[in-house]
Amino acid sequence: MDQIKAPLTLSRRAFLGTSAVVAAGAAAGLVLPLSLRAQEQDKALQAELDALPPLRQVAADKGIDFGAAVEPIYLQDNDFSDAFIKECAILVPEWSLKWAAYAPTEGRLVFDDVDQLLRFAGAHGMKMRGHTLIWYAAMPDWAKAALAAASPARAEQMMESLCYSVAGRYRGRLTSWDVVNEAIEPKDNQDNGLRASPWLQAMGPDYIEKAFRLMAAVDPSAQRVYNDYAVEHNQEKADAMVAMLRRLKERDVPIQAVGLQAHLSVGKDLAPLAKLCKDIKDMELDLLITELDVEDTSYWLNDAAHDQRVADTARAFFDTVFSLLKPKQILTWGLSDRHTWLADPKWNSHNPLGLSTRPLPLDKGCRRKLLWKTLYQQISAL
Ligand code: XIL
Repeated sequence: MDQIKAPLTLSRRAFLGTSAVVAAGAAAGLVLPLSLRAQEQDKALQAELDALPPLRQVAADKGIDFGAAVEPIYLQDNDFSDAFIKECAILVPEWSLKWAAYAPTEGRLVFDDVDQLLRFAGAHGMKMRGHTLIWYAAMPDWAKAALAAASPARAEQMMESLCYSVAGRYRGRLTSWDVVNEAIEPKDNQDNGLRASPWLQAMGPDYIEKAFRLMAAVDPSAQRVYNDYAVEHNQEKADAMVAMLRRLKERDVPIQAVGLQAHLSVGKDLAPLAKLCKDIKDMELDLLITELDVEDTSYWLNDAAHDQRVADTARAFFDTVFSLLKPKQILTWGLSDRHTWLADPKWNSHNPLGLSTRPLPLDKGCRRKLLWKTLYQQISAL
């Protein structure tokens, strides 16, 4: 048998050069195999986190409901389901309570998944919140066409039918509803920075007021929330949202809370956040953090580098929010990186290759991560 050839020996200069590159890469957090030391650090962090009480308990001790968005199909994974039950005191349907999901064809309502989530929540001492009723997206084609052809009066009838058939079905069983979702989009060049929503086109700007007044009648027990995204990072959008909320409050519209979706991005500043929280407080509206996750598009970095950047971004967010307000509820948009919309190119244009991201408190193995630790530290320090 031929002598096994000795591996190519590197010249001293080449060896030093290669080592320098590897060291620089590791320092920069590039995707390199974990060194033994890093593996030991990872084990130590895991042991530290595993010994801590669940987020649902830490948050409840501070009067906050902590939870996440979920769908029944995810709960078929026993390890995920166990982690969800352990960590969450509230859930929100990630997709099944959207118009396109429960009313794919006109006149037919399908609530099997929503009902299953409500049973799961009840079986595990969890609350459930509703997301969402009046939204420009996830409309079934039949509804989009009907609304586009509807007179203002007919559109209002469609809104009433939607609210009574959906929110009416769950009357008294949901803690809150995102009554109107994402009505602000200054890029659409509508008056007051409103989004060119099919509801706006059909009913005019009063559709927002009408939706909140309607929901006060349909389910008075569910807190009425206005929910939006990017206002944490975008001053123009934050200003337009606050101005809209002030107009609604001046007209005694029965809006009770603001949902900051908090889809945060590593590297984007949070300049609008402090004033936004002050304005929400001044308007005596409750605050809900409704869809927290942290996107890091530096996909070439290793997990440890991602996790640190994600945790640092969340810490900056909560440092600002908690210095001014205490949210009634904090929900992440998914609990584990195993199920995140941010890895779906259909929904996340920033990630066309569907690369792995680490935006949530648990990793794909449902193990607690630095973001989990940040949530634990920030909430328990309230
Ligand atoms: C996404 C869900 O996460 C996906 O499961 C679904 O397939 C598409 O919608 N908040 C929302 C939606 O309500 O805009 C998106 O959710 C992103 C976050």
